[in-house]
Amino acid sequence: MDDMVQLDELSEKEAGLSAPEREGARKILRALAAGGREMAGLLASGPLKGLTGASGVVNVQGEEVQTFDEIAQEVFTRTLRETGAVRCLVSEERETPEIQNGGSGLFHVAMDPLDGSSNLAISGPVGSIFCVFRPSAGEPADPSAAVLLSVPSPVFSAYVLYSVSTLLVVSFGREVRQFALDPARGEFLPLPGTVRFPGDGGQIVSLNAGNASRWREGDQSYLRSLSGVPYSARYVGALVMDFHRNLLKGGIYLYPGDMPKGGSGGHPEGKLRLLYEAIPMAIIARAAGGEAVDGTRPILDVSPVHIHQRVPLVVGSRSLVEDYLRISASPS
Ligand code: AHG
Ligand code: MN
Ligand code: MN
Repeated sequence: MDDMVQLDELSEKEAGLSAPEREGARKILRALAAGGREMAGLLASGPLKGLTGASGVVNVQGEEVQTFDEIAQEVFTRTLRETGAVRCLVSEERETPEIQNGGSGLFHVAMDPLDGSSNLAISGPVGSIFCVFRPSAGEPADPSAAVLLSVPSPVFSAYVLYSVSTLLVVSFGREVRQFALDPARGEFLPLPGTVRFPGDGGQIVSLNAGNASRWREGDQSYLRSLSGVPYSARYVGALVMDFHRNLLKGGIYLYPGDMPKGGSGGHPEGKLRLLYEAIPMAIIARAAGGEAVDGTRPILDVSPVHIHQRVPLVVGSRSLVEDYLRISASPS
């Protein structure tokens, strides 16, 4: 196994890609690195520029847009467009896909440009999440329908974590590689080896227990079952950070559906988005020996019907996800 693979070399290792696809994937990875570097710099000076507050704008999900959500949207839309390799770009921050390069690009891309944005106000960790799909043959003219048809054919997924250091994590589905931003050189450099969930599954459980009374019985039963086992609760409230910690240390992340209480709030279908949160993390989790489910089925078996579809997400070490499936299926 190559210990150090440069970002530019990653797509070369993928036998299932045509030569133009390898080149397109390489360009997209460069665009994610360039956007990630730019965002890391902007985020670092955010408090000094008064950029961490709310914008007063409400996005298509009905949530208030943070200033950085829109900045990240613009940064990655630009760096991706410049590759010439993107056909349709789906984003959490845009209701409809953006057609790039007149629709001539090789791939569709879905992104959450800024994940965990409620952490901005406290200088907490945030991230960016991406999934690249191969368009199917004879796709429909409607961009949303075209993207949905391509979802069963992912090419690679990636996230950028902006924290104590800035990391880029990438998987084409076979293995997971990490790159760290060298702030002096402005480049993402490889970290040695590949990343896998620890063999013992680990002990970390990440969930928003404040929602538990509004979860389905199976999810509540799983939470109760934890009182008998040694575990550590850790929750940052940014999927990228919570997932990344559990990937390295071993653990499970849950965001189940939660019912409205008192006629308001709630995410009965789950809060996280299938195309640009759950699927990319599921691809990385599987490639690292883990699993991701929607409560009963693998996330990668869910057929999307809407580009902004939400889904319950349980993701992490395989043995912990299997425990979750067993316990939540027969609540006691
Ligand atoms: P986003 O900032 O892109 O809307 O995503 C926030 C998501 C996810 O990152 C995080 O795990 C989850 O929302 C946290 O939700 P709660 O604050 O409801 O726990
Ligand atoms: Mn998000
Ligand atoms: Mn977001």
